[in-house]
Formats: sequence, structure tokens, C-alpha cells
Amino acid sequence: MNKERFYLTTPIYYPSDHLHIGHAYTTTVADSLARWHRFAGREVYFVTGSDEHGQKIQRAAEEKGIAPQQYVDEIVASFKELWENLNIEYDDFVRTTEPRHHKAVQTVFRKIYDKGDIYKSTYKGWYCTPCETFWVENRLVDGNCPDCGRPVEMVEEESYFFKLSKYADRLLDHIEKHPEFIQPEARRNEMVSFIKSGLEDLCVSRTTFDWGIPVPIDENHVIYVWFDALTNYLTAVGYPDDDDKKAKWWPADVHLVGKEIMRFHTIIWPIILMALEEPLPKTVFGHGWLLFDSDKMSKSKGNVVDPNVLIDEFGVDAIRYFLMREISFGQDGNFSRRALIERTNADLANDLGNLLNRTLSMLNRYFDGVVPEPQESTELDREFATFAGETGTAVDELIKGLKLNEALIRIWQLVGKANKYVDQRAPWNLVKEEASQGELCTVMYNLVECLRIVALVVKPFLPDTGEKIWIQLGITDALDKQTLEDTVWGGLKAGTRTKKGDPIFPRIEVKEDEKEDKVKEKQKKKQKKTDDKPENGLISIDDFMKCELVVAVVLKAERVKGADRLLKLQVDLGDEERQIVAGIAKHYEPTELVGKRIIVVKNLKPAILRGERSEGMLLAASTPDGKLELVSVSSAMPAGSRVK
Ligand code: MSP
Repeated sequence: MNKERFYLTTPIYYPSDHLHIGHAYTTTVADSLARWHRFAGREVYFVTGSDEHGQKIQRAAEEKGIAPQQYVDEIVASFKELWENLNIEYDDFVRTTEPRHHKAVQTVFRKIYDKGDIYKSTYKGWYCTPCETFWVENRLVDGNCPDCGRPVEMVEEESYFFKLSKYADRLLDHIEKHPEFIQPEARRNEMVSFIKSGLEDLCVSRTTFDWGIPVPIDENHVIYVWFDALTNYLTAVGYPDDDDKKAKWWPADVHLVGKEIMRFHTIIWPIILMALEEPLPKTVFGHGWLLFDSDKMSKSKGNVVDPNVLIDEFGVDAIRYFLMREISFGQDGNFSRRALIERTNADLANDLGNLLNRTLSMLNRYFDGVVPEPQESTELDREFATFAGETGTAVDELIKGLKLNEALIRIWQLVGKANKYVDQRAPWNLVKEEASQGELCTVMYNLVECLRIVALVVKPFLPDTGEKIWIQLGITDALDKQTLEDTVWGGLKAGTRTKKGDPIFPRIEVKEDEKEDKVKEKQKKKQKKTDDKPENGLISIDDFMKCELVVAVVLKAERVKGADRLLKLQVDLGDEERQIVAGIAKHYEPTELVGKRIIVVKNLKPAILRGERSEGMLLAASTPDGKLELVSVSSAMPAGSRVK
């Protein structure tokens, strides 16, 4: 019987700079998904790569005074090194400077041109080089790129255009018929309204620089870098030469990308495929951003985190676990060193590490380290065994539904239950009575068997940890040969001789100087509070003017899943749109807020509430007995008007 297949991709990253923890996030998630599907018996093809052409790279190389090829070669080598350090097991790595990719891109361009969907004209408009994106004037925000906020450049040149607009209706129809195509749902809604607001034909060639793949019918042009990059997903399956490979793997099951490049993957890419008459990928999943102190990481802000440094300090699995567990998959999440240490200590050192440690210590003490034959069992033993035995299939369902952090939560529920089981069954008491020796055998067998299952289900996410547990359990069957089917209860053989070793996750002690820094930080804050204290409770006009209050129009309002107090609002501030999360769900229905003109504190530091970014705060009057009313103005006041 043919194995089920799974083709999964990450974005191909720009080697304009070294990768940071945000890039590591996407690739770690993808690697864990790939490893899980392999473990579940599916045939997996997992592809990543590098997006090496375009103006941005050419400029970066020029700044260094070296040839673009030499420049990208060096950085791509560092990508591969990072993936090795992170234990990423990809099946193919596509570099867009490879001949196989040139051929694929030129073939795609020529086919679409021959079909009449690419035509020559002149482009005059705005271009954001860091994002390699064309923008029409009315999408700019304050004259800057709406995606990254950086300045755009005016470009005017002869170009080839791709008739995106021709396919808009077909694409909308596809999205409607295949709700799984764009995930999560919020991104689908964004994309649908983007398409409905009208698609412009896309400029797909440039003439003002030459670091790119030449247009096959016109050597003066190079192909637009996104047209080039997206095609990598076909290059990886042997397009255009290897029909068998393509038939085997195309269409992709999941393109995993960050939310900022959803437009390219769910509008441009499917339309290229429609023009080629190729099937569309089954799912494009746009995950959220990893933020640093609630702000996007970027080199220019100086807040990028180098994953190699973290791996050296904390070990690869602590990083992998933190990324996948801490961030609700699909939403933005915060990176901080402190959160990383707390997660590692709580979940890995305490919950998992101690479970292994205490189980094997007791086994050494009571049975000389050898797993006993289970005997009679109680209701509690049976319940525990059932929950443990269902873990593999439960995680499989969650992973198939791309519910990544829920899968980890399910595994740690088992770890939590096992620790509780130790306390409930108290083997240290059972050992004392002759009559409870049978029960002791059952309890100790159950604990080691549970750890066997944990090792198996943890390994796709934390490969080194799975292996370390396996070694300490002393099971001689090769771990690599184990599959999802082996996670059913009862696979452990009585008589197995365990080999207790060092703790798999030693607790991370907060360093003295870090402690000191924290103390200093606290002191500073305290001092600042005293300094800021108003005289006789009064503030100056300057103090008040620090607070930027403006009129905002509510564009959209919805409840925040899992938080019955919170509403998530999209508001228009006149010069920009923002998201604000507010604790008003008990007082207002989302529908009654749309169109309302409220007052918002515009210059408040962004915060993450229940995984949602909140960029501002709204004003409301409230009474001690819980009445609440939003402060609002009439429709005569335009959005953005200053309140003072
Ligand atoms: N080269 C394009 C992608 C072409 S795919 C056909 C590109 N490259 S990139 O180097 O800018 O990488 C962007 C991707 O890196 C994001 O979509 C996301 O997968 C990942 N991330 C970069 N920064 C990130 C965070 N701060 N948080 C989460 N993911 C991040 O765009």
C-alpha cells in the first residue's frame, strides 16, 4: 500500500543578513511537523532554502565591496550551519542561484508569456526594497511601506506585467470552496478583503539592476524576485524535467510562512499556478511574529536575537521547546530571556526531568533498576494507562490540524499526570508492606512505560531529549525504527535494565550578575516612580500633554477566543489602522461598537494580551459597582483629531 505523503515547505530566507530567532521559529516548527509525520508513517518531503536574488542582496553585496555570488555563498553557509545546530532535518535546500532553479523560473515565465498572461508596458510607482514589493500610492502609510514602515523609492522602468486581475474571481471562488487553503481564519478574511479591494496587474521584471534570472525572451530584464522565489516550491519537486517526482509531490500540503508574506503566497503564487494550470497547494499557514519586548525584531532596531548564542547557552531542545510551546501557533508571541529560563525550568527541568529522575531512582532502589512485571491494577492505574496510551493518536490529530502548541500541551498533560500519579500511588509507602508488592510492580512498570511513550512522542519536537530518555530507559530496540503504532500502551518489556544518568535538563540558575541587574532595574524603577510622583497629587500641563489622546473610529470588533472579558478592535486613527484589545466584552456587544468614535491613548507602549497585540488603550468611565461606558464623540469629529 502507498504511504500517505506530506510535502511541507518554509519560506526561502533572504541571505541579506544572518538569520535570527524569528527565522528559527518557522524552521523549527516545520521541522517538528515533518518529523512527526515521518514518525506517524507518512512519506515526507521537507524543503527549505535561500532567496538569493534581487535589489536588496545586490546592494548589500555592493556595500561590502564583493560580488553578490560570493556574498550569498558565505551567508547561505551560515544558514546551513544554523539548521544543523538546531537539528533541522530537511530533505532539500533550494538556492535560487542554482541552475535547476533558473531553468524552472524561466520555464514558468515563458509558459505564462506564451499563454498571453504576461505583457510588456511601463511601470511607474513605488518600490520597497527591503520587502522587494511594489506599492500603489493609496496603499502607502504616511508615504512609507505599509508592511515594514520604511521609506519607498519611486521607480520608473519598462517592465513585463502579469495579469493578476484576470484570475481574481477564480481565486476567490477557490478560497471559498477550500476553507483549509488559507489558515488561520483571520488571515483568510484579510486576504479575501485584499482581493476584493481590487488586484492590479503585477510587475514581474526589472531593468535597473541585474542580480536576478534573465527574462527568457528579453535579456535586458531580470525576473522580479518574488516571481523567482515562489517558484522554488516547484523547483524542489523536479519541475520542469522530472515529471515523476512532480507527480509524486505536487501539490504541496503546507506552505508554512510568516503572516507578512501571506499576500505573496495566497494571491500571487496561486495565480501563477492557475496560469500554469497546476493544482494549488492545499494549505498556506501564516503564523504570527515572534516579538521582542512586544516589538518586531529587526536589525535596525538592534533587537535581533541570535539563535546560535541561545543554543550554546541553553541547549538546542530548550530553544525548540520554548519557541513551539510559548507562542500560540498562528498568533504573535513574545521572546524574552526570562520567559525562556522560566519555561525551561518549569516544564523541562521540573516536570519532565524530575519525572525521569525520580522514576529511575525508585526503580534502582526497589528493583535494582530492572523493570518488573506488572501485577494487579486499580482503577487509577487503568485510567493512567489509558490516558498515556491515547497520547500518540491525540497528538497525531492535533498535528494534522496544525495545532502545534496544543500538541505539546497534550504531551505535558501526560507528564503532569504521571507526576501526580507518583504522588497518588506513593511507591515509597507500597514498598513497606509485603501485601502491596504486586501493586508496587504495577506502578513502577506504568511509570517507566509512560516514560517510554513520552520519549517517543517528544522526539519529533525535541530530538535530543527523546534520545536521552530512551538511553536512560535502557530499551534496546532502535529508537529510529519506532513509529506512532509503538505508542500504544504495553510495549515495554518487563526485565528491561534501565540506566539512570545525569538530569536531562539541569535547572538554569539565574546568574548573579543577572540577578544584580534585576535588582538594579527594580531600584531604578522605584526611584523613577518617586521622581515622577506629582507634588500634592497635581501634575503639570507638560505631564498631561505627554499623553496623546485622539479620536478613533471602530472598524471591526470581535471577541478574543478563550478570554470572556476581552474584545479585539480594529480602529482607524486617521493616519493608520491599529488593533486594540480592551476588557469591555461584558459591557458591549461587538456589533454595537462598529462605527463608534471613541478616544484612544495613541502613544501607549504596545502589549500582548492573551496572545493578541494591543497598540493603544481606549478611554472609558467606570463606577465601583461595575458600570462602564466608553468615552465617545459625535460623528462630526474626524478620526485622528487630538483630544486635549
Ligand atoms: N525571501 C522571502 C520569502 C520568499 S518565500 C518564497 C522572505 N525572506 S525573509 O528572510 O525575510 O524571511 C521571512 C520569514 O522569516 C517570515 O515569513 C517568517 O517565516 C520568518 N520570520 C522572520 N522574522 C520573524 C519573526 N520575528 N517572527 C516569526 N517569524 C519570522 O520574506
